[in-house]
Amino acid sequence: MTTTDTGKTLRLASWAQNTAPSPMQDMLALTARPGLISFGLGLPNQELFPREAFAEASADVLRNKPHTLQYGPAGVAHTLKTSIVELMKGRGVTCTEDEIFLTTGAQQAINMLARLLLEPGGQVLTEEITYPGFLQVLEPFAPELLTVPSCPQTGMDVDAVEALLQAGKRPAFIYSITDGHNPLGSSMSREKREKLARLAREYGVPIVEDDPYGFLSYDEVSVPPLKALESEWVFYAGSFSKILAPGVRIGWLIVPEALIQKLSVVKESYDINTANWSQHSVAAYMESGKLAEHLQLLRREYSARRDTMLRAIEAYFPAETRAEKPSNGMFLWVELPDFVDVPTLLRDAVEHKKVAFFPGQAFDTPGNTKGKHGMRLNFSNATHEQIEQGIKGIGELIEAQRSK
Ligand SMILES: Cc1ncc(COP(=O)(O)O)c(C=O)c1O
Repeated sequence: MTTTDTGKTLRLASWAQNTAPSPMQDMLALTARPGLISFGLGLPNQELFPREAFAEASADVLRNKPHTLQYGPAGVAHTLKTSIVELMKGRGVTCTEDEIFLTTGAQQAINMLARLLLEPGGQVLTEEITYPGFLQVLEPFAPELLTVPSCPQTGMDVDAVEALLQAGKRPAFIYSITDGHNPLGSSMSREKREKLARLAREYGVPIVEDDPYGFLSYDEVSVPPLKALESEWVFYAGSFSKILAPGVRIGWLIVPEALIQKLSVVKESYDINTANWSQHSVAAYMESGKLAEHLQLLRREYSARRDTMLRAIEAYFPAETRAEKPSNGMFLWVELPDFVDVPTLLRDAVEHKKVAFFPGQAFDTPGNTKGKHGMRLNFSNATHEQIEQGIKGIGELIEAQRSK
């Protein structure tokens, strides 16, 4: 039940009655405060959006392809699919246009897969600390969550996955953020990827691989995604949000061809079709061949900011702090000493230092408390000076808590 503004009682679906306010929305409101340094949200850096090249591509579409302002069939812009096939080849994934389904971002992609795979009350296997947007996807299904720990260096505990499968658990799917994990920043080791792919095949349990950060890799050699190791049982979700701009709202699924027609039905029920003009504008941008150079720029800029943040943490946070260096993505996960009360730290950081971060507990799956002493820091969105200033400010507040 909920009460309306005029005092009437409204009966909501049971899952909606129990929804908690979204910490992401709260953070969005917080970071709108003028002058606030935000390490909170996973925002790509606005200054780096390839605005000129995208303006050219999208203006051309507007002028010369009026049908792109029309409704369109769900999930098609063939030229964009061709560009995605090429893009995925660079990550070691072999696929065809017929296995690609265009979506309104990766968020919708994982939502559509959940709708396709999960029965109400079914089981889903995920990590103890995970992306809250995924938990929101699951809410209407009220599933039983099977959770496994994660290692900050090597990702999901795949032995624990195996133990659950050996014990007879058969989740509808396993959810994996294989590269640049949100919030842990981890990328799964090659050995774990191989084992997880083998388990999916052996037990016939699909993996939903959510991969918005895989293209933002900062090491010379990056390990291929799960999809490259197992094409049948891995359903891959990609996105242009972090490599081009989230405002275009374009993502993609790579799934066995047999699922495409089913996805069309789900897609129509959500939003009829992915914004046609946006699809074609991204397609035109991709055809201009400028993404590769843009990715180089992002890798250079983001890895430099990551390094600045790590140096500042080393300089200003207590020696007992643990922070891993992520090889992908936009997040640093920091484990603070036990004496730190993280929610109080956030409140004081916003009030007294004008800096925000995401407290680790926002990423705990229900019943888990592993994130209690953690914090997620986004390093893509701030300048080097802001990173230095913000981390110094948080460090001073941590020291103040120690001496209380
Ligand atoms: C792990 C993960 N999945 C999905 C999304 C949503 O991405 P998109 O903007 O493509 O919908 C995000 C966004 O931050 C994310 O971190």
